[in-house]
Amino acid sequence: MIEDSLSPTAITDGLATRFIGQEVSYYPSLPSTNDVAKRRAQEGAKQGTVIIAEEQTAGRGRIRRSWLSPRGSIALSIILYPPLAYLPSLIMVASLAVAGSIEQVTGLKAQIKWPNDVLVNGKKVCGILVESDVRGNKVDYAVIGIGVNANLKLSEFPQIAPMATSLSQELGRNVSRREMIRSLLTEAERLYLALPAGDSVFKQWRDNLVTLGKKVQVSSGEATYKGTAESVASDGSLLLRQPDGSLLKIVAGDVTLRQ
Ligand code: BTN
Repeated sequence: MIEDSLSPTAITDGLATRFIGQEVSYYPSLPSTNDVAKRRAQEGAKQGTVIIAEEQTAGRGRIRRSWLSPRGSIALSIILYPPLAYLPSLIMVASLAVAGSIEQVTGLKAQIKWPNDVLVNGKKVCGILVESDVRGNKVDYAVIGIGVNANLKLSEFPQIAPMATSLSQELGRNVSRREMIRSLLTEAERLYLALPAGDSVFKQWRDNLVTLGKKVQVSSGEATYKGTAESVASDGSLLLRQPDGSLLKIVAGDVTLRQ
């Protein structure tokens, strides 16, 4: 039986970080950990405070989608107060931290699909939602919300089963969510602290993107674009080579791999 308590001490005891995960609030059930994290940030919570919920009843995804977070999954939000220049890098930090923790704890190979979905065997296992409040050129706070399909039977969730998977489904056994979270928080802090040193996090993210070099379809707002995902810019945008040869910079969107 895997030890799987997500209590604050189970997460923080001996955690080798300076600030991420040193303060943890745990809730058996929440509408959304991101909403609680935003409120706590406005109240001045310490940098690195983590909000964890055993389940979410109104989990939110990107582009106003809902996010399924039943018991057995991981739903957490990290509060940070980064300089404005680091804001675009937070999705890189988060997706690399999740991919790294999956590989460390489970041995499964994880890939990142632009901008920040983490896939195992081509299916989505994690979603990331970064929300921030910026006034002028100052970030009041940023919240990194992370949802991982850890121990889920996809057959119980037919609405996501065609494109999603879970760690337990890929492994054939349950994983320790506690170990996953501790590894993820440690990785997130290591990568966040590497941001001032230059573009190593960006390069690592770019080199782990499964999207690059592939023929893709990108929906961005009302528009849909087709082409080859050629590269990414350091602000996280996708550079799409269109059939007419032009290069289009896409700041936000959803990618479908063609063929
Ligand atoms: C996506 O793929 O669209 C992003 C999903 C993000 C889900 C996480 S779960 C923890 C945090 N709380 C939320 O309501 N959403 C994020």
